[in-house]
Amino acid sequence: MSAGLVKKGYNEIAKRYSMQRDRYKNNKYLDRLIVLLKPGASILDIGCGAGIPIDKYLFDKGFGITGIDISEKQIELARKNLPTCNFQVKDMSDMSEGEYHVDAVVSFYAIFHIPREKHLDLFKKISTFLPNGGYLLVTMGSSEWEGSEAFHGTTMWWSHYNAEKNEKIIKRAGFKIIQNKIDNSGGEKHQIVLAKKE
Ligand SMILES: C[S@@+](CC[C@H](N)C(=O)[O-])C[C@H]1O[C@@H](n2cnc3c(N)ncnc32)[C@H](O)[C@@H]1O
Repeated sequence: MSAGLVKKGYNEIAKRYSMQRDRYKNNKYLDRLIVLLKPGASILDIGCGAGIPIDKYLFDKGFGITGIDISEKQIELARKNLPTCNFQVKDMSDMSEGEYHVDAVVSFYAIFHIPREKHLDLFKKISTFLPNGGYLLVTMGSSEWEGSEAFHGTTMWWSHYNAEKNEKIIKRAGFKIIQNKIDNSGGEKHQIVLAKKE
């Protein structure tokens, strides 16, 4: 039910969402990841949206990008924006263990669109995509909430724990926290976590 609503919502608002996306400022977090990666490292972006700004920023720095998103419209835009990257329509809940082999996984403003009870299992699954020493950079909700609300002219659904619980979940999935910040860009509060697979 929630996945259907989220997919329908982003299919409706893909263009509108892109038009206001630059109010969230993420480059300083991406830069913190980039210095840890080898040149040309491979990165999976989960809930990649239209590929701008996150994948474009990483692609322009020479990294190999794979992006997945549940919304066909978002993937259509991502393919237009970055034609040489690999984008697939996929629900992150349907990923299987070991399905990807990458040096880092990023996910901005997306994991809180799947039920929070699934977050631990998702991070455990993500861990199977990475070598020991691989990196994770994700945004999570900063406070506990679950429900739907109007969002850019559609109805959207979110599900998240608070920042403290998110950190515990990421650690339980086998990651060591490198940086854990509350970001206030875009007039909203989001948790941004950079972690390393132990
Ligand atoms: C707020 S947008 C962020 C997009 C992009 N990460 C960015 O930073 O601009 C959230 C994205 O997550 C995607 N998404 C939501 N639920 C998903 C799921 N279960 N599997 C894959 N993608 C999902 C949405 O379609 C949407 O493109």
